[in-house]
Amino acid sequence: MEQQKFSVIILAAGKGTRMKSSLPKILHPVAGKPMITRVIESVKQAGAEEIRVVLGYGEPLVRKVIEPLGVTCLKQTSQLGTADAVKAANVETLSGNVLILNGDHPLILKQDIKLMLDNFADSESDLQVTTVNMKNPKQFGRIVRHKGDIRAIVEAKDASSETLKIHEVNTGIYLVKSDVLKELLPKIKNHNTQKEYYLTDLVSLSLENHLKVCTSACKMSVAYGVNSQVELAKTSQYVFKRNAKTHMENGATIIDPSNTYIEDDVKIGESSVIFPGVFLRGSTLIGKYCVVEQNSFLNNMIVYDGVIIKTMSHLESSIIKSKAVIGPFARIRPETIIGEDARIGNFVELKKVNFGSKSKAGHLTYLGDAEIGEEVNIGCGTITCNYDVDKKKYKTVIGDRTFVGSDTQFVAPVTVGEDALIASGSTITKEVPDGGFAIARSRQITKQGYVPTKLREQTSALQNVETDVVGDKV
Ligand code: UD1
Ligand code: CA
Repeated sequence: MEQQKFSVIILAAGKGTRMKSSLPKILHPVAGKPMITRVIESVKQAGAEEIRVVLGYGEPLVRKVIEPLGVTCLKQTSQLGTADAVKAANVETLSGNVLILNGDHPLILKQDIKLMLDNFADSESDLQVTTVNMKNPKQFGRIVRHKGDIRAIVEAKDASSETLKIHEVNTGIYLVKSDVLKELLPKIKNHNTQKEYYLTDLVSLSLENHLKVCTSACKMSVAYGVNSQVELAKTSQYVFKRNAKTHMENGATIIDPSNTYIEDDVKIGESSVIFPGVFLRGSTLIGKYCVVEQNSFLNNMIVYDGVIIKTMSHLESSIIKSKAVIGPFARIRPETIIGEDARIGNFVELKKVNFGSKSKAGHLTYLGDAEIGEEVNIGCGTITCNYDVDKKKYKTVIGDRTFVGSDTQFVAPVTVGEDALIASGSTITKEVPDGGFAIARSRQITKQGYVPTKLREQTSALQNVETDVVGDKV
């Protein structure tokens, strides 16, 4: 079917009191993305021409988050009901069909909206209400029908015990012709239990005006609104599981999908294995045949094929080339590139480093603002002193095949050539040429008979105790 033009009004002025949080409800993230952003993205993908969002509580903050998405923000000064919220959206300036929905229903997808649009076009109606059948409809407005046709929506608070038995409910998602909206909106009164202007009154008003009203059924997920922290967590779990399923269908092995946290924009190549507790965030891209072991965290990472990321590693905004092995307990900070076949071991932190292929930093090391060549060996405990008292960062350059002994400090800016050798325990402050050997540590002094007699007696007493316990002289 041909793409139909439509505008959107998103109702999002409510405070969300039950969240018990100072953050406006619609900014709470569902699987890493604010719920309002999810709704906006879905209507955009469905082809919305113009999106107006009605804000109230926390308006300045919400505006900051969503205006960059290309929506128009409007303010409803006091929350007098859903019809009053729609009024705040300046309906007079709308044309064509209008989709009205809630900002706190984050599971709606493009295909759900397309279905509603198609149904609305086919039915040639003036107003369409999206409905769903619920086992336990609680506070949802009930769909009252006569001879199969919708007659009204009755709010739970205004409903008789008979009406409350109805399982078909209003999702709060409508498609309406803008002319109908302009004409009927001013006629809505607040004569109800809550003294609110109910948008749901559009149904009975349309029928009174001999307009055609229809319903469109949707999936349960579309009707799912978030009102509490518990519902927020359930919603995130739903999205994480949905994402994990997509990756499994594309050939990734996910050992425990209910305990794996993959955000929407992540991509994973076939035959890669994701262990439990892994968090894959942002635009992270993982190649084929990779292994990401348990509890590792990757944000905006590019990981080439065949990489192994061992348990408990924290990686951000960096690139890891093929067959490199990272971790366990590694930390890769932004703007780092790890070359092919390189090895980054436990308790190694890298920030803004170009780490050459086949190079190794196996243990307890900090490298910041560094160019490390190929096949370089960085000994245990190596540190680049990149941050000076002037609060500026300085660079360390180490050439190909250089061997850095353990416990070395490079006081940047400093350059070490290719095939050089740095003695263990050195503090390198000056340039080392290609093939150079540098040693920069104080000489060892060994003195005879220097330990006082008393201390020696104590030491030998201790040795005797040990001998008693072990029962054998070492
Ligand atoms: C509304 C419907 C109900 C439906 C339910 C689905 C009415 C009268 N009732 O219930 O039939 O089953 O949605 O979720 O419309 N909002 C504003 N300004 C206001 C009031 C609400 O912006 O003055 C926004 C809220 O932020 C929320 C949405 O409108 O995003 C729905 O409001 P909410 O109070 O959650 O729904 P109900 O009125 O209880
Ligand atoms: Ca309400």
